[in-house]
Amino acid sequence: MHIAIGSDHAGYSLKSSLMPFLKERGEILSDFGTQSESVSVDYPDIALAVAEAVASGKAERGILICGSGVGMSIAANKVPGVYATTGNDLYTAKMSRLHNNTNVLALGGRIIGKDLAQEIVSTWLDTPFARGRHEQRTKKICSIETQSEKKSCNLSTEKLTIVEHPLIQHKISIIRDKNTTVKEFRELVQEIAGLMAYETTRTLALEDVEVETPITKTTGKTLQGKKLAIVPVLRAGLGMVEGILRLIPNAKVGHVGLYRNPDTLEPVEYYCKLPNDIEERDVFILDPMLATGGSAVAAIDLVKRQGGKKISLVNLIAAPEGVQKVHSIHSDVDIYIAALDERLNDHGYIVPGLGDAGDRLYGTK
Ligand code: PRP
Ligand code: URA
Repeated sequence: MHIAIGSDHAGYSLKSSLMPFLKERGEILSDFGTQSESVSVDYPDIALAVAEAVASGKAERGILICGSGVGMSIAANKVPGVYATTGNDLYTAKMSRLHNNTNVLALGGRIIGKDLAQEIVSTWLDTPFARGRHEQRTKKICSIETQSEKKSCNLSTEKLTIVEHPLIQHKISIIRDKNTTVKEFRELVQEIAGLMAYETTRTLALEDVEVETPITKTTGKTLQGKKLAIVPVLRAGLGMVEGILRLIPNAKVGHVGLYRNPDTLEPVEYYCKLPNDIEERDVFILDPMLATGGSAVAAIDLVKRQGGKKISLVNLIAAPEGVQKVHSIHSDVDIYIAALDERLNDHGYIVPGLGDAGDRLYGTK
């Protein structure tokens, strides 16, 4: 297992004795310091480095050591995706894995000795998450995190849904990877769009329908005669269409052509063809990327101008700036995304993002 490890000066001695023990167990270690017990350092700096290694997936687990383990676990827990426990006894360490699925263990170098520390670390590393009812609780912890993330970016929590299904999150990591091929990228974008459709269509109305099974008659459910339209923003939005049509084959498809002027980042419109009865349909505008929000606002404007009323925006990756811009102009639009990234860079690209979605879908770079 790849473990990120770090200590402050008070935990240095215990860390030095744990590292050879962990290596002997076959673990791969990344040491984030500190390298001395005589120079005082600030534990949050070390906790942050280890926590970020775990949250980004570079390391599977993290071990932090300070005087008591308390400061380190508080600091590590501030990083989204980190679930840290102070574990200076065997029971806490074990239960923190079984019930809480912790991924960072903080130890007190001034509280426990080398032998107990080794026992605690082995137990913590070897105990699996029990799942079952505990998973429902850890999911609630994750959703507290998402809500706070949205609030801290000043985003509307009501009209923004982050679709956090593990399959989606797994596939998003693959499309972010710069080594993913054009073919894989294209397939994954379709798959993610299809998986997101489960969430975006959650509120579709159902009505009763009589069904005769080979055994008996029964009452089932069928979608009410509700009309849908999906509107990809060319080019990159096209990459999401098939994934959704596979699940909703009767949806009508409109097209909006927009590209960003590379200098001004302003959207330039070059095409718009929407179903004639757009005003009667639930409209889902598709685009993998929501960056400055300029293209999304222009696409929503176009759909509204032609009569569209109930409009949702479906993106794979969004920057907080884009979500804010869309909601500041179109506060009625529901936005569905798979990931809310950190920010835009100076060229208007999403960080960490995935680069240029159109180029990656069509191999044009
Ligand atoms: C990309 C992306 C969005 C837009 C997002 O398209 O597919 O449409 O940028 O950026 P924004 O939120 O800052 O407007 P691009 O302009 O690169 O066109 P393309 O799909 O034709 O490559
Ligand atoms: N468009 C993209 O394709 N990617 C970004 O990061 C921003 C805009």
